[in-house]
Amino acid sequence: MTSTNRFWQLDRHPRGNDFAAALSLREEALAPLGEGEVRVRTGWLSMDAGTRMWMSPRTDGYQPPLPLRSRMVGLVLGRVTESRDPAFPVGALVRGFGQWAEFATMLPALAGLEVVDDGIADVRQHFGALGMNAWTAYVGVKEVAAVKAGEWLVVSAAAGATGSLACQVGKALGARIVGIAGGPAKCAFLRETLGVDLALDYKADDVAAGLAAIEGGVHAYFDNVGGPLLDAVLPNMAHYGRVAICGMVAAYDADAPLPGPARFDQVLMRRLRIEGFFIPDFLERGAEFLPVLRQWHDEGRLAVPLDESEGIENTLVAYDRMLSGKAIGKVIVRVAGDD
Ligand SMILES: NC(=O)c1ccc[n+]([C@@H]2O[C@H](COP(=O)([O-])OP(=O)(O)OC[C@H]3O[C@@H](n4cnc5c(N)ncnc54)[C@H](OP(=O)(O)O)[C@@H]3O)[C@@H](O)[C@H]2O)c1
Repeated sequence: MTSTNRFWQLDRHPRGNDFAAALSLREEALAPLGEGEVRVRTGWLSMDAGTRMWMSPRTDGYQPPLPLRSRMVGLVLGRVTESRDPAFPVGALVRGFGQWAEFATMLPALAGLEVVDDGIADVRQHFGALGMNAWTAYVGVKEVAAVKAGEWLVVSAAAGATGSLACQVGKALGARIVGIAGGPAKCAFLRETLGVDLALDYKADDVAAGLAAIEGGVHAYFDNVGGPLLDAVLPNMAHYGRVAICGMVAAYDADAPLPGPARFDQVLMRRLRIEGFFIPDFLERGAEFLPVLRQWHDEGRLAVPLDESEGIENTLVAYDRMLSGKAIGKVIVRVAGDD
């Protein structure tokens, strides 16, 4: 049995996207498992924008900052190699919040560890159409933004993992979709692959003017970005519109919150409801969401392209691809695959 483990350590808080200066790949001898712990051989790591906040020193985020010199944390998909919890037997395919490591050691309750179906055609979809980004899209669109058939739904970071799934959840519910993303390739993906009704390139187009063309305004906004895009959307909302605050990726590399929104007055003028939500609060309801997502996935209505990098040593390259917008769809790192 392997006795060494490579893992990424957070040495200092990153500046911007300079992750190489902030994290280092280290090696350790694997320690014996503690009471109740489960060890997983990492098949794939999920690259998630929200984890960027844990790298910052901010203490007012939804998670406390990761202490310096600790292992970087993220979602892991892999097979159990050692277990001191009978609910997670050796060989089971599991997903949970572990470490960026070849072997992730987790306490199941703290890690949100769960056994996932290894009978599906591509188990990587547990990070895709059946993963946390899909659960987030479902909760945000259906419950928080309360989108109904025939309404206009706007989604930002729409060609990313969460955003592309939010567009598809909206479509499955019968809404008309506006996707906002950076660059012509992403907008072509939104139109041609996801079939959105309108794609806006926030790097080239006037987003506020594009939205102003929607008669009566937009009914719901699934916001992944915050910042200037939120200000472009608020004056174009319909009366009694709903804004689901999923993420604020425009501000994650700042060590302080961005000011704003500048157009907060529109919340009153248009009688809007704005609500933030955080998917770990909904983990216990997975059994309710999963069959719906699974059905849409099986029917070909819910899919996400996977942008896969190979090898734990390339984790920072993949992370930068995701955060700096170089990738379309869901960014993952293949560490050991499903060997
Ligand atoms: N609330 C929750 O529970 C929850 C759960 C999962 C994810 N989220 C949130 O969902 C959002 C997307 O996360 P993800 O993991 O799915 O990542 P992702 O969308 O796959 O990748 C991040 C994307 O953000 C866009 N972006 C980066 N900086 C930007 C900026 N300054 N302005 C506009 N767009 C920018 C980039 O797309 P472009 O090329 O289009 O710029 C990039 O592709 C994040 O805000 C994350 O925190 C929230």
